[in-house]
Amino acid sequence: MTTIDLASKYRSEFPLFEKLTYVNSCSHGALANSVKKSFTTYISTLEEKGSAWNDWVTQQEIVRKLMAQFLSAKPEEIAITTSASAGINALATSLNFQGKRNKIITTNNEFPTMGQIWHAQESRGAKVIHIPNNADLTVDTNSLIDAIDEETLLVAITHVCYRNGVRTDIQPIIEAAHKMGALVILDAYQSVGSLSLNVNEIKADIIVGGLQKYMLAVPGVGFMYARGSTTSALIPTVTGWFAAQDIFAMKIDAYQPAAHARRFENGTPNIAPLYPATAGLELILEVGILNIEKYVAEIHSEIRAGITEIGGKVVTPIDSKFHGSLLAVASTDENAHVAALEEIGIITSCRDGNVRISPHFYNNREDVKKIVDGFYKTKSLLKK
Ligand SMILES: Cc1ncc(COP(=O)(O)O)c(C=O)c1O
Repeated sequence: MTTIDLASKYRSEFPLFEKLTYVNSCSHGALANSVKKSFTTYISTLEEKGSAWNDWVTQQEIVRKLMAQFLSAKPEEIAITTSASAGINALATSLNFQGKRNKIITTNNEFPTMGQIWHAQESRGAKVIHIPNNADLTVDTNSLIDAIDEETLLVAITHVCYRNGVRTDIQPIIEAAHKMGALVILDAYQSVGSLSLNVNEIKADIIVGGLQKYMLAVPGVGFMYARGSTTSALIPTVTGWFAAQDIFAMKIDAYQPAAHARRFENGTPNIAPLYPATAGLELILEVGILNIEKYVAEIHSEIRAGITEIGGKVVTPIDSKFHGSLLAVASTDENAHVAALEEIGIITSCRDGNVRISPHFYNNREDVKKIVDGFYKTKSLLKK
């Protein structure tokens, strides 16, 4: 086995583990010492300079560069947003649904915000088509591909489903969409920081996500990747001065959006969370996403094997092509189950009848043992 034991190298950076067995990275990442320290850096700009706009605007550019490095993209292809929704909305307002191409093809594994924003465009002429899942909860790739036609403007898909951990087989979908002249937006919130997302390999036109989960930061900073070669004609009408070509031209009689993906931003950046975003990104880049992906796959499989052995039903597909970090365990009462696990120091979360376990590179084999033990102790809540 050649995988590096990442937890033994980095665990001491996460004091939370002195108290808890934390496997809820799908909701919020564990706090790293460097991320904690970054808050102090922000506070010191206030204490020492009062209004440190140069530092703050520079910080936004640092996050942009680091995010571009993480995605193997160009900084000009990255908008720094305040949420995934902010990016999806900016994209929505740049699309015209009045012509023949007005269809949006999507899946039933989307996070609510993805479904809701596209349905909100129905009043502007959009037709939203949902492709039902297969029985094993995976996206029915063939039906989705068949549904993409010359009236399709956009395919809106999630990378990893927040409810059940299903990973969408995105490559054939992206290829089929492009063949038909449609754009693809990928919601990577549940994969960014735990799976590799190289835009030279994943050819989605737009990728959105946030940095509070596997990227180790805090709520308030998201990203939107907009591929230069396919999205440069998209001009959002939800906008603001930080989206203008020259932010400090202070023009009120004209609108000139940035040529850069920054045109998908709007007003003053969310300054404070940019500091933890930087620290989180630096740590993820240091650990290395390919190392994380490999290591987390092993921890995922060991938790799955342990829970299956005690009679639990993992609803997340077993094939590694169809899952990411998150695994979902069927429960007779998911809220009571999460509470019972919390009582014994194990932090999980739940959705849709399942307890969600979402390991990251800081989880070790001791955690695996404690989690399996915890599910054994709460066996009466397992759904067979
Ligand atoms: C897949 C996915 N998309 C989107 C979001 C949240 O989007 P937003 O940043 O707009 O709140 C989440 C948060 O849990 C998520 O899991």
